[in-house]
Amino acid sequence: MARPILATIHLGALRHNLAVVRRFAPHAMTMSVIKANGYGHGMLRVAQGLQDSDGFAVLGVDEGVTLREAGYDQTILLLEGLFAPDELPLAARHRLAIVVHCEEQLRVLEADRGAHQVDVFLKINSGMNRLGVVPTRFWGVYDRLKACKSVGEITLMTHFATADEALGVEEAFARFDEMTGEISRPRSMANSASLIRFPQTHGDWVRPGIMLYGASPFADQSAVSLDLKPAMTFTSQIIGVQSLQPGQGVGYGYAFRADRPMRVGVVACGYADGYPRHAPTGTPIVVAGRMTRTLGRVSMDMLFADLTEIPEADVDSPVELWGEQVAVDEVARAADTIGYELLCAIARRVPMVQVD
Ligand SMILES: Cc1ncc(COP(=O)(O)O)c(C=O)c1O
Repeated sequence: MARPILATIHLGALRHNLAVVRRFAPHAMTMSVIKANGYGHGMLRVAQGLQDSDGFAVLGVDEGVTLREAGYDQTILLLEGLFAPDELPLAARHRLAIVVHCEEQLRVLEADRGAHQVDVFLKINSGMNRLGVVPTRFWGVYDRLKACKSVGEITLMTHFATADEALGVEEAFARFDEMTGEISRPRSMANSASLIRFPQTHGDWVRPGIMLYGASPFADQSAVSLDLKPAMTFTSQIIGVQSLQPGQGVGYGYAFRADRPMRVGVVACGYADGYPRHAPTGTPIVVAGRMTRTLGRVSMDMLFADLTEIPEADVDSPVELWGEQVAVDEVARAADTIGYELLCAIARRVPMVQVD
């Protein structure tokens, strides 16, 4: 019998979450961000669930080509543009739009002298200082792009550093708006957090990622309160049960010791499956449909769940690591990380299935 661990991807939840995006941003086109293997859910699987999107955003030219070859005809954007000049012919042949975030990338297009044609999203650094043309260089780059024979349509783009935080986006938005205000071209600014909280940033294309997968972009607001449904349910089973006497420890380092008689379930899931090793005792987990907590240290292939208050739980009882009953954001919070990281880190050895 196979190990009982499984990630189930709900296409219906993806469709629902896309509808939520459109409720928040009814006038913008939706560029669904499906990089990093669809935030861990499987890129093509996610594209199928989100096939109604106006566009898809990925990282590598190979991902773009895979999407085209799978028959997706909408806009496909390479979020960091070309990593090497020889990617240009491939991008052009498959009608992939590319980000231009620096002058080196602009020079690749100029050197092509119109041999190929690509649509460009010109990325502007509005304060995050990650990728993007700085305001003082903007006009120079923009004018050269306009004159470049290899460039088709130009969209103006930025990305916000603090859309999910109290600081918000006002200052960065104002900087972007001031710089680009007189230009009549399509604009793209908003990730999930920005499209939910700052309607002024919707522009022509919103770029939601995390909310499509049913997790919250915010530390202070749950996915459920945003009407988002988890696209992934990560499940396993109890494969062993131990009884602890007061003072006995469990797992590596005896990181947890019983202070009373306890029942402990051994769950077939560990950090080699993508469960965070730093999740401490007390991380929420559901066994046999009941909420309980993890105990002790997560090991490579197993972790421990407290069954003391769940007498009906035994070997073979179902376990939900995250999904509908335990939000991935709750597990992430306990492990001092974010839902994004947990979803992206699901290991290849975890079988994945999709349901409608
Ligand atoms: C440029 C860009 N736009 C949009 C997104 C989507 O962000 P989120 O998942 O927070 O909605 C990302 C994600 O990292 C990004 O890098």
